[in-house]
This record gives sequence, C-alpha cells and structure tokens, in this order.
Amino acid sequence: MKLSLVAKPSARAVVIYPVYSKEKPHDAAVAKFIQQLEKNKEFEAKSGQLFYKYDGISNLASKVIFVGMGEKKKLDYAAVLDAIASAVKSAKSHKEHTVCIIMDDELGKFGQAVGEAAVLANYNQARQWKTGKSAKTIQEQHIDVLEVTDVKKNSAAHHAIEKGILIAEVKNDLRDWINSPPNIANPEFFDQRAKEAAKASGAKLKILKNKELKKLGCGAILAVNRGSPDDARLIVMDYNPHGAKKDETVALVGKGIIFDSGGYNLKPSGHIEDMQLDKSGAATVIAFARLLKKLNIKRRVIITCAMTENLIGPLAQKPSEIIKSYSGKTIEVTNTDAEGRLVLADAIAYTIKEYKPKYLIDLATLTGACMVALGYRYAGLFGNDKELAEKIRKAGDEINEDLWPMPIHKEHHEQIKGTFADIQNTSTVRYAGASTAAAFLEEFVDKKTKWAHLDIAGPAFTQTPKKYETKGATGFGLRTLVRFMEELG
Ligand code: BES
Ligand code: MG
Ligand code: ZN
Repeated sequence: MKLSLVAKPSARAVVIYPVYSKEKPHDAAVAKFIQQLEKNKEFEAKSGQLFYKYDGISNLASKVIFVGMGEKKKLDYAAVLDAIASAVKSAKSHKEHTVCIIMDDELGKFGQAVGEAAVLANYNQARQWKTGKSAKTIQEQHIDVLEVTDVKKNSAAHHAIEKGILIAEVKNDLRDWINSPPNIANPEFFDQRAKEAAKASGAKLKILKNKELKKLGCGAILAVNRGSPDDARLIVMDYNPHGAKKDETVALVGKGIIFDSGGYNLKPSGHIEDMQLDKSGAATVIAFARLLKKLNIKRRVIITCAMTENLIGPLAQKPSEIIKSYSGKTIEVTNTDAEGRLVLADAIAYTIKEYKPKYLIDLATLTGACMVALGYRYAGLFGNDKELAEKIRKAGDEINEDLWPMPIHKEHHEQIKGTFADIQNTSTVRYAGASTAAAFLEEFVDKKTKWAHLDIAGPAFTQTPKKYETKGATGFGLRTLVRFMEELG
C-alpha cells in the first residue's frame, strides 16, 4: 500500500473521518453536521461506530465515512486498530482503490496502528484462489493508496504510519502462508520464504535436511517425518550484521508442521480440517526474519524452524515407539498426535547447543488444551523466567495481542516421566495438557537459557476474528515479536 501525505483528499478517495465523542471536529461544516447527528442520536462517535455520507460535505470528496473513536482521552492502540480497520473495510466496497484518513494530533500518536489497520483491513483470505467474477470483485475492492491529511513529511507520525504499513504487509503475507494448504505451502515453499527473508535481512541461512539431521542425531524430528514423502528441515537463520555480542543473542524457534493429521493417532473429522495452521509458529518467525534489517534490530537473532508433515504411511512412527532426541534424552511416543513437542525438542536443543542464546522464545500451535483454557483470544505464555514472560506479555498488550501467563509445575514434569524411556510425549494425567506440553519442552531447555513458550493454538487461526482480522490465519505473534525486540533494544 502506497502512503501519500496530502493537504486534502484527492477527488476519488473515500474519506475516513475520525470523530471523537464530546469533541468538536475541526472542520466547521463537519462539526455542525455531527452535532445534528448526535442530537438525533444517529451517530454518537462511539468507538468503531460508522456513519456514511455520500453527498459531499465541506471541501471533502463526495464519499465520507465518519468513524467514531470514542473519548479522545481513552484512545488506545486497540481502539485505533478496530475503528480504522472497520472504516477501511467498509470503504473497500466503493472500488475506488484510495482511502484518505483525516488525521489529527491524537491519532498521529497512534500512527503505527493507523498504518497497520489500513493494510490489515485490505486482507482477503480467498484472494489467492478465487477465479472469475469473485477474483475480479476482490481485486476491485483492493485499496492501493492510503492518503493521510495533516501529517508532516518525516514527522514521527509519518514514520510510524510507514512502519505500520511495512509490518502489516508482512503480516498479510504471513496470513497467506498459514492459510495456504499443504499442497501449496509445502516444505519447499518455506525453504523459499526463508531464502527471501535471509536475503532481505542479510542473515546466514542453513537448511538441514534428513541426511544432516541423521548425522546430528535429531531423532525426534526425524521420527515425526517418517510418514512424509518430503525431507524434514531445520531451517536456521543467523542474523548479526552489527557484530553484536554473542552472549546477548535472542533465539526464536517455530513449530512448522505443514499438516498435522495426527499420524496413527489420526485426528477425527471436525479436528483435522484446518491443520494447515500447524505451521503458524514457523511461518511467524520466518516473517519476522524478513523485518530484522528494516527494523534495524541490533542484536544477534537466531531463527530456527522445525518443518515437516505429520502423516501416516508404512514408515510413519507408531505409538509405543522409543526414539532418541538430539539432546540424548529418550522419548516414548505415547501419542503420535503430540508431534509438535517432538520436533521442537530437537529444534530447541540444537539451537541452545549451537548458539547459546541468552533468550529463547518458541512459538507453537502446540495444544488443543490451551484453546480449551484460553479460547481464541489469548495465547498461553509459559517459561522459566518471569521477567522475560512479563516483557513479552507487555509487548503484546501494547499492540493488542493478548497473552496470558500459564504455569509449569514440577508435577507436570512428573506426569511426563517415561515408563521405559526417559520421558514420554503425553501426560499420564488427562488435565492441564497445555502445561504438560510446556513441561515437555522445558526438558530440552538448559537452566542458563531464559526461555518463553507461546502456545498460539487459539489466536493463530480464529473463528472469532477481530475487526482487522478475517476467519482463519491471523498472523498472531508477529507484532508482539516486533514490539518485544524493539523494547529489548
Ligand atoms: N497441532 C495440534 C494442536 C492444535 C489443536 C492446534 C487444535 C490448533 C488447533 C497438536 O499437535 C496436537 O495435536 N496436540 C494434541 C496433544 C495431545 C495428543 C496430547 C491435542 O492438543 O489434542
Ligand atoms: Mg498433533
Ligand atoms: Zn500439531
């Protein structure tokens, strides 16, 4: 989306005019009009409320959408995202390709949210696949130009809007990657995405496939891979263009299951259909890698993705198998559907051994249990370091991605002790499945590493989208990572 700073809206633009409750708009004609609407209780500038005026007002273009912002002093990031996205979504139906937002000083403080909202509202999950008339309609309703009034060139607001656009464009691509089914977004697809990301940020890239993984002893990811016709991958990016100190490294690890059928513990109908979502964690960290340079991140960042498919077939692993992980720990596979923790076990242990990061954060659509506990809205936030968890939670909170602290108790570790092997990949107890999964991951984290685990099973792929989302992939986590890394410095 192209950003254009304008003195007044161009003739064809659909104008989005934010209005605050109990606040007189600057434009005298608009103020008078709004006052009348308020009197008639037709429009009260409640947050997200829309009012359409398509016969011109003041010196603005003919199509104006007034959008309520609520009270000015209560304005926050979430309110801006919701309100602006609602207005832009509505503006799309006019097929004009240009929207113009009438900015003001208060909204200027939320420039990043404005840019993000405009681009995120543009997303259409069917765009890639529809043909014929539907394809044409989708194309006609695409916004190409975002005009903003009252923003000075090179001002803080200007840069913030641009940054919002940049992040949201990557986020929309990320949504496409996650929504794409396994016949399209296959392991090779992600090799390509990783190559592009590494190139964009000047990161070193390694793609370890079965031969190397065997040599390394990555028995856990290889066990999950056995049902798949494609090689597994550990995709590893090493970003350090500023020569940052190695003991300050941040590692980001993503679960990348191209499709999770459950394996021999096959998922039933009703649970298997959306399982292309199971690569969300890996896709998110690859998308983030694309932004590292543009965001001018100074730290060394390691990005590791554990990619493979969880399928059935004559070679696929069976429940009861005992495998040896990269760390040396043996695992009894009590359930082939608990595959995420297996691939992550090797990815985490390898990343720690090889790069000794100070912080390691993993993102994974790990458990249905986390969705049972927290729904679509919240990601579960686990780990071994309260301070790190709080930093991540706060970063998410600031940009409207919600994470909720969840416990790992030593009992959860007890519950995954193996009968035959060191550990087993499911708990002996039916409850607290998100915590026992996290406890399993912790078995592969050393005490020195500050570790956080984000179980994004709920928010990664939603049936209850926010105003700036659509059903399906949300791109959850990307903006939290951006904010977290910026605040970490
Ligand atoms: N990928 C799933 C978790 C999931 C479920 C993500 C629904 C998003 C929506 C994971 O691999 C899985 O199957 N977990 C099992 C673990 C169980 C066998 C202990 C689950 O949650 O049922
Ligand atoms: Mg599974
Ligand atoms: Zn899975």
